[in-house]
Amino acid sequence: MHTSKFLVLLCGCVGPFLAGAAEQPRPVGAAYETKVKHDRDGIGKFYFGREIAQVMGHQAAGWLERRNREEEERTDLLLNALDLKAGDVVADVGAGSGYFSWRMAQMVGPTGKIFANDIQPEMLELLMAQMRKRNVEKIVEPILGTVQDPKLPANSTDLILLVDVYHELDFPFEMTRAMIKGLKSGGRLVLVEYRGEDPAVPIKKLHKMTTTQVKKEMAVHPLTFVRQIDVLPQQHILIFRKSATE
Ligand SMILES: C[S@@+](CC[C@H](N)C(=O)[O-])C[C@H]1O[C@@H](n2cnc3c(N)ncnc32)[C@H](O)[C@@H]1O
Repeated sequence: MHTSKFLVLLCGCVGPFLAGAAEQPRPVGAAYETKVKHDRDGIGKFYFGREIAQVMGHQAAGWLERRNREEEERTDLLLNALDLKAGDVVADVGAGSGYFSWRMAQMVGPTGKIFANDIQPEMLELLMAQMRKRNVEKIVEPILGTVQDPKLPANSTDLILLVDVYHELDFPFEMTRAMIKGLKSGGRLVLVEYRGEDPAVPIKKLHKMTTTQVKKEMAVHPLTFVRQIDVLPQQHILIFRKSATE
């Protein structure tokens, strides 16, 4: 288990509050709070009572590509659960080094598309090197986003996947709203988070989320909860659908 390394390297974070990141109107209850006294793994900013975690720095990319990841996290089961088909357009938001991007590119094939988004240019460089190595660079399009906007083309995407990302979004409300704009009507938003309810999952508190918390945060958006899949050893898979009226 490489958790201890992961936990140390998490400190190589990018600035949580970027200059000029203007706050946008949010529904009642979805306001941000800042606290001086807070968890050392967090950014001191709270959303629905949850402290937002620090962003994992690109220096930790090796952990994402560790050899035993498939066995440890059963990423094969996660990919199966996405139910992708040839020709699908998928966004891998917070794609990191592209662990899921190239695997999903093989699933959607040359008639499909993967938007691989991240806020760290260094991650996207590593990602594209990997896409070239896997021969899927024509299917995967890198997108450098901002902390508030993944910059996906509007109404373009069948499925958006965030693996181990949502808990570290500095602006979860704005990011979710922007991701919904990128989804086609009826498109799916899939959040994969380490199970916050389970003390046996050896990941620091702020880097896990409970199902209740995720659902609470999604409830302020035009999304319908579809289902929860609990086939993974350490993570929940939570699937939401963009409301047809949006
Ligand atoms: C723990 S890594 C997970 C990477 C990848 N999903 C995986 O499972 O291999 C989290 C990634 O989310 C990215 N991230 C954090 N905040 C983001 C945001 N607002 N928009 C896009 N990416 C973000 C980080 O830069 C980092 O690459």
